[in-house]
Amino acid sequence: MEKKVVLITGCSSGIGLGLAVRLASDPDQTFKVYATMRDLAKKERLLESVKGPHRDNLEILRMDVTDRQSIWDAKDRVVEKRVDVLVCNAGVGLMGPLEAQPLHSMRHVLEVNLLGTIQTIQAFLSEMKARGQGRILVTGSTGGLHGLPFNEVYCASKFAIEGACESLAVLLKHFNVHVSLIECGPVNTSFMVNLQKAEVGDPSLKDVDAQTLSLYEKYLQHCSSVFQTAAQDTEDIVKVFLTAIQSPSPSFRYFTNGAMPPLTRLKFTEPDGAQYISAMSRIIFSEQ
Ligand SMILES: NC(=O)c1ccc[n+]([C@@H]2O[C@H](COP(=O)([O-])OP(=O)(O)OC[C@H]3O[C@@H](n4cnc5c(N)ncnc54)[C@H](OP(=O)(O)O)[C@@H]3O)[C@@H](O)[C@H]2O)c1
Repeated sequence: MEKKVVLITGCSSGIGLGLAVRLASDPDQTFKVYATMRDLAKKERLLESVKGPHRDNLEILRMDVTDRQSIWDAKDRVVEKRVDVLVCNAGVGLMGPLEAQPLHSMRHVLEVNLLGTIQTIQAFLSEMKARGQGRILVTGSTGGLHGLPFNEVYCASKFAIEGACESLAVLLKHFNVHVSLIECGPVNTSFMVNLQKAEVGDPSLKDVDAQTLSLYEKYLQHCSSVFQTAAQDTEDIVKVFLTAIQSPSPSFRYFTNGAMPPLTRLKFTEPDGAQYISAMSRIIFSEQ
């Protein structure tokens, strides 16, 4: 049987790495995986995790999603000349009081998470439409469904991806191309280490008012306790990707915890937004 050709962005660590390893190591050898990363010096972890004969199912390519040429160069290296499943996973975070965030940091988050995802999809879209088949999976976030204080620009990028994917899904249905968002809550990856985060006491926060700084400290405590107690493992997320990839009629949205989280649901059941804002504020800022 012909292997499914899967191309994944952001495979140097975390979810992308885990997914690339799982698919390349599939016991039924169902997949040919093009695992892409922006810095090939980071490829060792992935290579070491894919053992023996499974290595033949794996090709590692350089791709920086902010660099259009690198996307097209990677595409040209796909020997099958088709991608059955495109996984747009690369992403970065940005955390801190909004008034202290430099334009270049905000721009970078939007360039990677939003435009990077869109221009990756652009590169593969025409072929999928022409063949009348294909899957586009995007690593979404509950931060793309409801707002989180001190994550305004990250949430903006992930909210925007929701809009882009939903719009595209309506059209691509007519081409038998399925778009799915894998909506993750906190996941144990390097994401929190890799994100650009203002530390309390950082000179960049010197002009931020005392109340905001005190709330930011509370937020950081909340965040670290959520990651310690409720974060999912990469394997849990990979299983959800696999479900979406293997489903004959994939859903548009998959929640990695199984169901829509209560706070996200609150947004839809109480659409004026007041209850969501009160609940989120209580949870984050009233916590001991
Ligand atoms: N972890 C969470 O709690 C969580 C929750 C919800 C959603 N997500 C989403 O999950 C996705 C994967 O994140 P993760 O948790 O696996 O974190 P991660 O371990 O930090 O992985 C992020 C990946 O994106 C790559 N990347 C960053 N900028 C890139 C660029 N310009 N071009 C290509 N690749 C780039 C990183 O490569 P480098 O090593 O070169 O930086 C890395 O491989 C992201 O879209 C994130 O928003 C994560």
